[in-house]
Amino acid sequence: MDALSVIYEQVGSEEPFYRLVEFFYNGVEDSTVLRPLYPKDLSEAKSKLAKYLIYRMGGSQAYVQERGHPRMRARHMPFKIGMKERDAWLLAMNSALDQTEEFKPFRAELDAFFEHFATFMINQPD
Ligand code: HEM
Repeated sequence: MDALSVIYEQVGSEEPFYRLVEFFYNGVEDSTVLRPLYPKDLSEAKSKLAKYLIYRMGGSQAYVQERGHPRMRARHMPFKIGMKERDAWLLAMNSALDQTEEFKPFRAELDAFFEHFATFMINQPD
């Protein structure tokens, strides 16, 4: 158990995770850096990110049942991710978190997690 895996229980349902992901992808749609990396239809990407976050924060295991071991770094290899992409991703996520009340009590842990994770996804120099 780590600090993240108790968040689902405290948030209490999946709905705020889906709302967070909608806000996040609004940011992706507005980003000239991020938008070209994602497929035209974002519905699968939304569902995968919501399920992953629910799983990582101690909720349903659906992500792993459907997609197998997360292998996140390997799954991001097809996309060119440098500092610029990392910063744009974090900006979209921070703005989504700002808009989703339910995550306010966990901001310190969440900010640290996303920053660490997004830096780990960097696979190319800018
Ligand atoms: C650092 C900048 C990042 C960029 C530019 C990026 C970009 C992408 C792209 C383009 C996809 C493919 C979407 C699709 O085709 O459906 C993807 C998938 C995904 N990303 Fe990221 N990502 C980043 C960081 C992160 C972080 C920090 C997380 C989680 C904390 C994350 C979680 C995911 C998940 C769960 C998937 C779906 C993987 C799968 O099951 O196929 N990403 N990402």
